[in-house]
Amino acid sequence: METLILKPTDIEKAAAFIQEGELVAFQTETVYGLGADATNDEAVKKIYQAKGRPSDNPLIVHIANKEQVTDYVTHIPNKAEQLMDVFWPGPLTIIMELKEGTLAPTVTAGLDSVGIRMPDSPSALRLIERSGKPLAAPSANTSGKPSPTTAQHVFHDLKGKVAAIVDDGETGVGLESTVLDLTEPEKPTILRPGGVSKEQLEQVIGPVFLDQHLVEESETPRAPGMKYTHYSPEEPVYVVAEDGRGWEHALKIFRERGEKIGLLASEELIAKYGKEAAAVYSLGPKENVREASRLLYSGLRYFETTEATVILAESYAELDIGQAFMNRLEKAAGKKYI
Ligand code: TXA
Ligand code: MG
Repeated sequence: METLILKPTDIEKAAAFIQEGELVAFQTETVYGLGADATNDEAVKKIYQAKGRPSDNPLIVHIANKEQVTDYVTHIPNKAEQLMDVFWPGPLTIIMELKEGTLAPTVTAGLDSVGIRMPDSPSALRLIERSGKPLAAPSANTSGKPSPTTAQHVFHDLKGKVAAIVDDGETGVGLESTVLDLTEPEKPTILRPGGVSKEQLEQVIGPVFLDQHLVEESETPRAPGMKYTHYSPEEPVYVVAEDGRGWEHALKIFRERGEKIGLLASEELIAKYGKEAAAVYSLGPKENVREASRLLYSGLRYFETTEATVILAESYAELDIGQAFMNRLEKAAGKKYI
């Protein structure tokens, strides 16, 4: 199959593909999504095939306005209502009880709940409106690879496997949405940290829990996807710990092993140690973890085009979006710290 690269002005063409049951990758404010008509089971199955995604990992349903939510859930908890008012459109996915029979069974991987979000991207919203369908969409990368933040990343992973990619430029947030489980409204639980921080959620609805399985990986996670997402580039990634023996020690160890070092770090750290690396990718000023988050996936992919054989990455404080940043970086590293 030929993969067309479309402009946002070609949205009618993209919408026609969706209506015909084909896959269209599209820009959102978080990462590019791989979309299909969420009411068409055959179309949704193509998503799993194209990504090589395990079929027990449910997909997020994307809608274009808040009113659409009532079509797919049994009821909207008050807290969900409040959060939608504040954070939609935006990087927050809310899990609620599924109204049976309204979506293709493959979307929710057999669960009786569904994750829904309204993306903050004009071209995504237009695509949903013009196709007249809710869009099931995971990140548009090959399963296990870093999520795509440009149309070029999508093309690299999925050319020949999707009908079209709507190229609307780089994504702004750079990390996926926060996934919040509200199926037990008295215990709102973050299953995946993301673009909206725990602190931001708590300002609106009070105490929010973080699924401990995010930390203790030995048990089965509640968000089935968490056990699969690795976000890993080709080179092994090591996080240089704040409280470890430091950068000089880390650089020395890998140099002695004959590795070519790729440095994924703040501009301050690159100014200090960049000369000792074979390749560098700047995550911007250290104080700006939002900027680092926007650049993380691009940075992880960048080293595939260099001679680096290992990536050493800087760690950031787990404050605000720093929690999501460190969650993705740790997964990319397979928890390897030095
Ligand atoms: O920002 C994002 O969320 C991007 C863009 C494209 O919207 N999408 C995305 O989708 O990251 P995906 O499929 O890569 O991640 C969806 C996550 C997975 O961890 C999945 O297990 C979880 O949400 N999830 C979806 N529906 C769920 C449900 N009903 N119960 C529990 N977890 C669910
Ligand atoms: Mg993903």
